[in-house]
Amino acid sequence: MVTTAKSSTGKAQRSRRTRRTGRRDPVAVTLLKKDHREVEGWFDEYEQLEDEAEKLALFNKIALALKVHTQIEEEILYPEERGDVEDDMLDEAYVEHDGAKKLIAEIEAMKPSEQFYDAKVKVLGEYIKHHVKEEEQPGGIFAQAKKGDEDLDAMGERMRARKEELTAELAKAKPN
Ligand SMILES: [Fe+2]
Ligand SMILES: [Fe+2]
Repeated sequence: MVTTAKSSTGKAQRSRRTRRTGRRDPVAVTLLKKDHREVEGWFDEYEQLEDEAEKLALFNKIALALKVHTQIEEEILYPEERGDVEDDMLDEAYVEHDGAKKLIAEIEAMKPSEQFYDAKVKVLGEYIKHHVKEEEQPGGIFAQAKKGDEDLDAMGERMRARKEELTAELAKAKPN
């Protein structure tokens, strides 16, 4: 049974879901793309900042969102799409996640006043943009997943629940 969101948008989502026009992104893809746009916006915002406390606060927001997002993909999307998405593409995505996590850990160990802090945040942003392209581009991970057998609406509902859980969990565990 598919559980439907209880929010006020629930009804609209339900009616869209029943109409299979083929143009609509399934819930899993919609959720992940929304995360991508959000974090891209925050990287752009970071570039405008001068105040170190504001930089730290925004970076912490970016780091938390990226940790939750990559974990959801690694726990749910990537393993469940094995077989539907090319192995090489999935393997590279894991490696790119690892690269991003290392850079995040390096930045977390620094202060915004230190040399290379801004540069590392900038490079992380570029790295994420590249990775997001691999996921969203024609023939990329999402496109291949959409052609596959998995129910990406049901998967999206599970992702949404896991995202909430992880966000609460990791926000508590934050070092600073
Ligand atoms: Fe990813
Ligand atoms: Fe992603």
